[in-house]
Amino acid sequence: MSLSGKVAIVTGASRGIGRQVAIQLARSGIKVVVNYSSNQEKADEVVQIIETLGGEAIAVRGDVSKVSEVEALFSAALEQFGGIDILVNNAGAMFNAAIPDVTEEMFDRQFNINVKGTYFACQQAMKHMRKGGSIINLSTSVSGAMLPTYSVYAATKGAVEQLTRQLAKEFGTKDIIMNCIAPGQVSTELFLEGKSEELIDSYRRMNAFGRLGEPEDIANAIELLISDKARWITGQTIRVNGGFN
Ligand SMILES: NC(=O)c1ccc[n+]([C@@H]2O[C@H](COP(=O)([O-])OP(=O)(O)OC[C@H]3O[C@@H](n4cnc5c(N)ncnc54)[C@H](OP(=O)(O)O)[C@@H]3O)[C@@H](O)[C@H]2O)c1
Repeated sequence: MSLSGKVAIVTGASRGIGRQVAIQLARSGIKVVVNYSSNQEKADEVVQIIETLGGEAIAVRGDVSKVSEVEALFSAALEQFGGIDILVNNAGAMFNAAIPDVTEEMFDRQFNINVKGTYFACQQAMKHMRKGGSIINLSTSVSGAMLPTYSVYAATKGAVEQLTRQLAKEFGTKDIIMNCIAPGQVSTELFLEGKSEELIDSYRRMNAFGRLGEPEDIANAIELLISDKARWITGQTIRVNGGFN
């Protein structure tokens, strides 16, 4: 399967990992729907980069925690490109806090974006994706590390991993594979925000290479899983973390 001419939706592609995924997929000739929730300028910048590379992309605003906006995202992709072959459920939120400090809003927002967003995007994918496609969900390697303050976030990603196992069987009937990538610490706003240099340094020392992951490390793994060599891999979670755990 040549990827050139395929169509991908990448949620949360205005910044961080999603931005890099969108750009790398476009470099392989894939047409990309760059989803974002509020940062239109950044999403437009990603589209511009892709167009400069000779690729095709559109930016589509849509909060993945709202089902109607997920539906509109898929409609926009179909209208612009006529079909969908790849879905990367990348949009995510992380609010870390010790148990007494977790608010209902922090809890709900993480579950709504990370779990509900992933689920209903998959529902749209079941309705609209073409046979032979691939879905990648984003989990995290901290699920396996039991770090303090990460409990709600890790629980959302545990749910995403279980959804991946469950839904992969249903998607098999459409010859669509679904896998989950669980990054370690990656140098993006989501990870860096609010952390001291000392703490960040301690995370650097937790993997085999003494550095943070870069968005490119994750985008490379996603490229492997959407290639035609991965068609017998489905329902799996793959830790992409430089040996963190
Ligand atoms: N960075 C890490 O260390 C790390 C580690 C493990 C797993 N992950 C996972 O990898 C994924 C990407 O993380 P990141 O580090 O790249 O995050 P990031 O730098 O904070 O970027 C988040 C992206 O998601 C979008 N987004 C946020 N809420 C959204 C919503 N409700 N609907 C649609 N888009 C939304 C943002 O759009 P706007 O620009 O419009 O706000 C932005 O494009 C997440 O699922 C995260 O949990 C990250």
